[in-house]
Amino acid sequence: MPLTTEKTISLPDVDMHFYKPRNPVTVPITKSEIATDSSSPNFVRHIEFDVSGTDLENRIVPGQSVGVIAEGIDENGRPHKVRLYSSCSPSGGEDGRGKIYATTVKRVIDEHWETQELFLGVCSNYLCNRKAGDKILMTGPAGKRFILPENPQDYNYLFFATGTGIAPFRGMIMDLLRMDYSNDLVLAFGCPYRTDLLYKNLFGELDQKHSSFRYLKSVSREDPRADGTKPYVQYSLIDRADLMKPILEKDNTLIYICGLKGMETGIFQILAMMGKFDYLKVDDTLMEKDPAHWTRDELKTGVKPAERMFLEVY
Ligand code: FAD
Ligand code: A2P
Repeated sequence: MPLTTEKTISLPDVDMHFYKPRNPVTVPITKSEIATDSSSPNFVRHIEFDVSGTDLENRIVPGQSVGVIAEGIDENGRPHKVRLYSSCSPSGGEDGRGKIYATTVKRVIDEHWETQELFLGVCSNYLCNRKAGDKILMTGPAGKRFILPENPQDYNYLFFATGTGIAPFRGMIMDLLRMDYSNDLVLAFGCPYRTDLLYKNLFGELDQKHSSFRYLKSVSREDPRADGTKPYVQYSLIDRADLMKPILEKDNTLIYICGLKGMETGIFQILAMMGKFDYLKVDDTLMEKDPAHWTRDELKTGVKPAERMFLEVY
């Protein structure tokens, strides 16, 4: 199915905002397990929750998020604001009946940028501290743009994820491979260490089982590229050009990017260097310059995703 004109990709209508910050729903956590290897220096959890009997039942689509409101008050004495967490489940949830959904949460832990004291993100730590049986306040679902299109089996997909940006792709890939799907599907996943390859057993098995699916790993702090640079996900476009280029050239290929804010500019630049402008909207002024010399600021302000590219970064 060629995508020759704008707006040819139609997205399904999805339900949103049954529960808003003023009327959140209470749901129990049913499971919380470490999603990294136990020796990882990072803390990421796969957390499942039970939405049965609520309006969320069978209504959360991969790519959508739910909101979580941590208990307690913020520094201004107000209830904590909602934080969003992507569903990592396929359409029917973890149980196939739309009752149990899951998300993948990374604890935000750091030294405070200014005070040098320990900085703990409010909601990620609240959520990762909760155990099976604990109840949480939830809103959502949220998001209608970062989802698979109608007739998803008609397209090829290049998915780029860093860290917990893997969450929506877990659900999307499970959905696609459960269909009669025979197009090309590539997941390029980036993380700091091999211990942080989230859901690596699942993706490794799916790669073995399905000839249409390929799982590429970019372990930034362990596997330097030939020139010594970090193998960020965008370099898989170059380093695995054998796989990626023929897929990029098909006119029914879509690119989805999820994870670290800023990761998208590297992908934009390499696509432009490869001459793949059909995925990008580039300011006229930039078109006069060699994409290899586009600056960080130019990439941020002068390049946007075109119709065939979907972006969710945070
Ligand atoms: P906060 O208490 O909100 O602290 C984080 C904020 O503090 C940052 O905005 C930053 O400005 C500041 N900060 C960070 N580090 C420091 C530091 N060292 N010193 C001082 N200030 C600092 N997260 C996931 O883990 N999994 C997901 O699936 C996921 N999906 C998302 C989907 C969407 C659409 C969006 C928008 C976000 C998603 N997030 C996800 C991010 C999530 O919503 C939260 O932003 C994240 O968990 C941090 O929230 P927090 O309450 O723990 O941290
Ligand atoms: P690094 O931190 O080594 O620079 P996590 O969320 O688990 O920390 O993983 C984020 C991953 O994304 C890390 O491997 C990180 O590498 C990598 N990364 C950092 N900046 C970028 C970027 N601009 N483009 C692509 N990947 C990036």
